[in-house]
Amino acid sequence: MQLLANQYVLLCPATGLHVPLEGALSMKIQWTPDLATGSSEIDAQHVELFKRIDSLFSTFDQGVVKRSEIDRTVQFLSEYVAQHFGTEEAYMTKYAYSSRSAHLSQHQQFIKSFGKLKDRIHKEGIVPEVAQETKELCTDWLVTHIKFSDKALGMFLKMKMR
Ligand SMILES: [Fe+2]
Ligand SMILES: [Fe+2]
Repeated sequence: MQLLANQYVLLCPATGLHVPLEGALSMKIQWTPDLATGSSEIDAQHVELFKRIDSLFSTFDQGVVKRSEIDRTVQFLSEYVAQHFGTEEAYMTKYAYSSRSAHLSQHQQFIKSFGKLKDRIHKEGIVPEVAQETKELCTDWLVTHIKFSDKALGMFLKMKMR
């Protein structure tokens, strides 16, 4: 993963357009092979997830972006998150994964936190605090979840599916 220092943008409530904001951070996020779970299907979805997160961050960084465009990018990401969690959860159910409920509650926690950020982005725009929290959730949480929970699931599925 690569985090690059740059500038965030602030949504101007009067115009609904973004203006550069001094002193904030932007970042790039990229899937790397150390995040491989052993399930090619899950890995392919993680790659797509990272792409959509990256496109959300790019939207944050654009100088002039309409509120509707930000909302659309956020929605584009949350739909894929739901689809991806659904794939993992279906496998956990199908193969009676013993850590299913703990894994599910991590997914639910993400959905809840991301839902709150979505509402704040819609209402407040990309203010630095919201941008920082989005960054932390979409990078720190996701990477930790993949490294521990999804890798454990991937190993389990590899055993079950061979
Ligand atoms: Fe997961
Ligand atoms: Fe995952």
